[in-house]
Amino acid sequence: MKASGELKVEDLRVSFQTAQGTVRAVNGVGFVVKPGDVLGVVGESGCGKSATLRAIAGLTQPPGHIDGGRVEFDGRELTGLGRGGLRRILGNEIGFISQSPFGALNPILSIERQFRNVIKAHRRASARECREIALKALRDVGIAGPERVLDGYAHQLSGGMAQRVVIAMATVHNPQLILADEPTTALDVTVQRQILDLITGLIAESNRSMLIVTHDLGVVAQYCTRVLVMYAGQAVEEGTVDQVFRTPQHPYTQALLAAVPKVGGEIRGLQGGLPDLINYPSGCPYADRCPKATEVCVETRPPMVRAGQGRRTACHHAAGEVAGYAAARS
Ligand SMILES: Nc1ncnc2c1ncn2[C@@H]1O[C@H](COP(=O)(O)OP(=O)(O)O)[C@@H](O)[C@H]1O
Ligand code: SF4
Ligand SMILES: [Mg+2]
Repeated sequence: MKASGELKVEDLRVSFQTAQGTVRAVNGVGFVVKPGDVLGVVGESGCGKSATLRAIAGLTQPPGHIDGGRVEFDGRELTGLGRGGLRRILGNEIGFISQSPFGALNPILSIERQFRNVIKAHRRASARECREIALKALRDVGIAGPERVLDGYAHQLSGGMAQRVVIAMATVHNPQLILADEPTTALDVTVQRQILDLITGLIAESNRSMLIVTHDLGVVAQYCTRVLVMYAGQAVEEGTVDQVFRTPQHPYTQALLAAVPKVGGEIRGLQGGLPDLINYPSGCPYADRCPKATEVCVETRPPMVRAGQGRRTACHHAAGEVAGYAAARS
């Protein structure tokens, strides 16, 4: 029987060794993804979203290093499993979809061969059975001529088709949890929606869950149940999409939402930049951009504090109720 699939991340820390020094990419992120949740992770480029996702999936590679924290999936601690144990889970119980489908596919193996590798990594099957399973998986992601796709190679596919193939491979073992890192960024707008409908459809069918990184707040509004706002490798606000979008409590979330011209827009035009991740600030990482910053902000890092109804905010001067995005949404 497959697991219930709750993901629990606690105090996760990831750094990258560079010639300039140690880049503190993820600094104590924690959250829970329950079955049925679609958690959207948002924040500016460079704030540690990919590093977080890759660490959860056990894909952190040098110069990256997991410095601490726990990742628990279905009651098992993944961080303690080692490579072999993780390999049994990734691709089987957890599916990973990256930003670039062509990066995920092997250019010199046929699609059929790659499917066979993915299938045989987690179950016994003959070549013929693998082909049948792959054909069904491709049909399930809306590919009309699956035989032709199976017999071909990645370079013969359009971006949208390639991402469908990646999704079919990532979900062929019916994972309980899907980790998707900007899965549609490389695709044009109409294909983006088709792909997102497809992934969220797969999840809704069977109470699975997903963690999706996106810079498109419209995608969060439409597809996610919860949202986690990250800044400089920390979680700064979390709640249901409605809570966070209607009444953002953290000044960074407020700035983020204000920077989006309308629902469906992308994050842009935010003043200033991320702090130096090598000489990481000891106080609030947002202090040098924050209009509400005071002395305590510079001196002491604000912890994530529960604000009721599953909301959390990390700010010394968090707003109680600020009608932030409500006006823009209605
Ligand atoms: N391989 C790497 N080597 C050095 N620094 C890296 C590497 N990968 C990511 N980083 C740094 O880690 C930080 C977080 O990166 P990332 O997780 O990719 O951010 P995001 O996905 O939110 O855009 C950034 O400052 C980035 O420059
Ligand atoms: S803790 Fe201070 S600097 Fe940080 S977001 Fe809150 S008010 Fe701004
Ligand atoms: Mg990224």
